[in-house]
Amino acid sequence: MRPMSRSVEPPRVLNIEDLRRAARRRLPRVVFDYIDGGAEDEWTLRANCRAFEAVTFRPRCAVAVPSCDLHTVVLGTSLPMPLILAPVGSCRLMYPRGEEAAARAAGRAGIIYTLSTLSGCRLEDVANASGGPVWYQLYLVGGRDCALAAIERAHKAGYSALVVTIDTPVAGLRERDLRNGAKELLSGKLGAMLPFVNQLLRRPRWLAAFLADGGLMRFENVVIPGKGPMLYADVTAALEQSVVTWEDLKWIRAAWNGPVVIKGVHTREDARRAVDEGADALVISNHGGRQLDHVAPSLEVLPEIVASVGDRIEILLDGGIRRGSDIVKALCLGARAVMFGRAYAYGLGAAGNAGVARAIEILRADLIRTLKLLGCASIAELDRSYVDVPADWLRR
Ligand code: GLV
Repeated sequence: MRPMSRSVEPPRVLNIEDLRRAARRRLPRVVFDYIDGGAEDEWTLRANCRAFEAVTFRPRCAVAVPSCDLHTVVLGTSLPMPLILAPVGSCRLMYPRGEEAAARAAGRAGIIYTLSTLSGCRLEDVANASGGPVWYQLYLVGGRDCALAAIERAHKAGYSALVVTIDTPVAGLRERDLRNGAKELLSGKLGAMLPFVNQLLRRPRWLAAFLADGGLMRFENVVIPGKGPMLYADVTAALEQSVVTWEDLKWIRAAWNGPVVIKGVHTREDARRAVDEGADALVISNHGGRQLDHVAPSLEVLPEIVASVGDRIEILLDGGIRRGSDIVKALCLGARAVMFGRAYAYGLGAAGNAGVARAIEILRADLIRTLKLLGCASIAELDRSYVDVPADWLRR
């Protein structure tokens, strides 16, 4: 038998789960689990994905769809596909200059990259790396003056929207992080680190790259007046002193001369409140199951929130997106676009910029194929008639 030529060799990374496995092979357990894990029993983490399985398609067969239109507009920004990179913290743990690597992939695809407050790269460098649309996610760690300074820098650097996360009054209980010694390893204190360093030594390639990158020890965009960038070791305590309240929304709105996106809405009551407080868009999100466990999956609450405020505000969703078909289901139920975090973080951990680019490409190709199989030429035409939804979701 003739050996298979390279060109017909099946690509090894076919889907997001393949990227996840590749990330697990390259990263030390503490970093892989930081991406992969959720809060407490991880019920919401799993439920986010299972919710997509509960929605089934109603395709229109024998319909030719020679090309598909994936184009959409989110907060006035024209996007070639309904995808946005969600804020993911600490990307330099995953890959050298991780936030820049991810932003570069998003920029090349023409989609929005959202930079987390808890990032190791300077926001100006990230905007440059993207060269495309960028949003800035805000936590109030470090206090109001610190946030105001970041907002001003973000505005100058060309960030077009501010994403305010409201579901993190305290860090969720991420038991995997505790068991792996995430806090101790990032404390910079040798004595505390020692019991946990073995897992780092088992990934020498990652360790060499991490150390050459300077090691992530501080948050470059959380600059404490008179002190400098916040140290990683200080962040958990800082989060607990920096709850974002509806009251804060007022000064944030006044300080930011642009659209404000509220991220972390789970109920129609909070959705209405976000609209009343002047939000321009909201993200139905349970933080990827990383905060309050046993909160309902994002997709399940989407119909209730669309019914309540869908005519007044743009609605985005994150949580559980692993396939292009998941994106189609969210759009059928009324989301304008989706955010995805883990799916690209696996790619980042596996292969840096190339891994994020692969994650985006996988989801884009999935989207097109799903639309063709549904007999639908444009995402603008997607609606409830293309899916069957569990009846109790519609009675909420
Ligand atoms: C931070 O927001 C995290 O989920 O780790």
